[in-house]
Amino acid sequence: MAKFDFSQRDSFSSKIGIIAAAAGSAIGLGNIWRFPYVAGQNGGAAFLIIYLLFVIAIGIPVMLSEFTIGRRGQRNPYGAFKKLRPGQPWCLIGIMGIAAAFFVLAFYSTIAGWTLEYLYRSVSNGFSGKSPSELTEMFSDFQQGGLMPVIWQIVFMFLTAWIVYRGVRKGIEKYAKILMPIFLVLILVICIRSITLPGAGEGLNFLFKPDFSKITPNVILEALGQALFSLSIGMGTLITYGSYISKKDKLPNTAYSVAAADTFVTVLAGIAIFPAVFAFGINPAEGEALVFITLPGIFQQMAGGYFWSLFFFMLLVIAALTSTISILEVVVAFFSEELGISRKRATVVATAIITIIGIFCTLSQGPMENMKIFGQSMFSLLEYTSVNLLLPLGGFFIVIFVGWVLGKRNVKDELSNKGVLKARFINLFMVIVRVIAPVAIAIIFLNQLGLLKF
Ligand code: PFF
Repeated sequence: MAKFDFSQRDSFSSKIGIIAAAAGSAIGLGNIWRFPYVAGQNGGAAFLIIYLLFVIAIGIPVMLSEFTIGRRGQRNPYGAFKKLRPGQPWCLIGIMGIAAAFFVLAFYSTIAGWTLEYLYRSVSNGFSGKSPSELTEMFSDFQQGGLMPVIWQIVFMFLTAWIVYRGVRKGIEKYAKILMPIFLVLILVICIRSITLPGAGEGLNFLFKPDFSKITPNVILEALGQALFSLSIGMGTLITYGSYISKKDKLPNTAYSVAAADTFVTVLAGIAIFPAVFAFGINPAEGEALVFITLPGIFQQMAGGYFWSLFFFMLLVIAALTSTISILEVVVAFFSEELGISRKRATVVATAIITIIGIFCTLSQGPMENMKIFGQSMFSLLEYTSVNLLLPLGGFFIVIFVGWVLGKRNVKDELSNKGVLKARFINLFMVIVRVIAPVAIAIIFLNQLGLLKF
């Protein structure tokens, strides 16, 4: 079998390129599509608060841990663990992450496909004059049709593969740098329109006025899963990106910027969506369809709605794309470095397998919705297992590895660029990754499983 030539490994070319790529991975459908629907089902403001707490206390430490493992290991998630602790079972965490990447991309590309349909409808002025209930019907007709969602999903996977195929610098970095800033401006404008809708106040109350009686063990687990998912952590995506970061770049600053940008966009998405949800009389617990009904509704209320909608769905597609490429990259890096197949072939094989699983996810949201596995649709099963099980489990072992196995000296070396940076936070960081983060994740898990009761 051909061996991968590690001296030829691709890398990011600049600091801004790394941030754009990592923030591009973090900011995506998780912020705009998943956060509003999960927060809508799990109590709104109370969910938001727990989510924010998790981003700070667990998310940032896990992200820094992933960067540390990646840059030190200079490999895909499996290879990095194997190189850092040869002959020990730590590389299984990498395998789990790669499995998670298959699952996540399979269901993510279903939604990404929907965004393409909505872009197409924007172009053809398909939302014009439609009431919220007509928009609801339009969405369900589209889903039930079956064929178009599958076609769009395949198109989306093709776009993803095309960028990954081009490589890290000329593909991922180049596109992320151009597209992410435009996205930020646009979502800000949409927020302003949404909060000035008549009746918007109720939506803002839902998002910002917590009712703590809504908190249950499941709400807490969902908030943890969402925090990890939104930051793209727990499955090795940022181990992979970390391995492309140069030794001169600052890992802590990168992590803070990425986490801040991602969280900012989540809050903006909440501000954009919930006022409209209430103003249009939609149930916030509507589920996966929530943003596909509310957003076109908001555009109807805007002067020049045609263009706003067009622009927004174009950028949503792009935000999704900068995330899907990061997920596919995990699998491609693994296939090419560990199996010794060329990067191009790895891209084709990985894309084909994921698309096939993905098609079942898409159909399970439409014509095959009655086919249940463990009482759930294929889509919900993959979404729940990867986000609420595999990512927290991955996050748990990643911090344990950095806290207890890698050695404080090595960690400090990586976070301070061999002493060039001060890294005064290192003691606090070690306490978090050794004790606070793993204990918190373990408690949430055991509590949800009913093995621990408060
Ligand atoms: N963080 C992405 C989003 O919020 O859309 C989704 C994601 C990307 C999750 C990469 C996990 C991952 F490894």
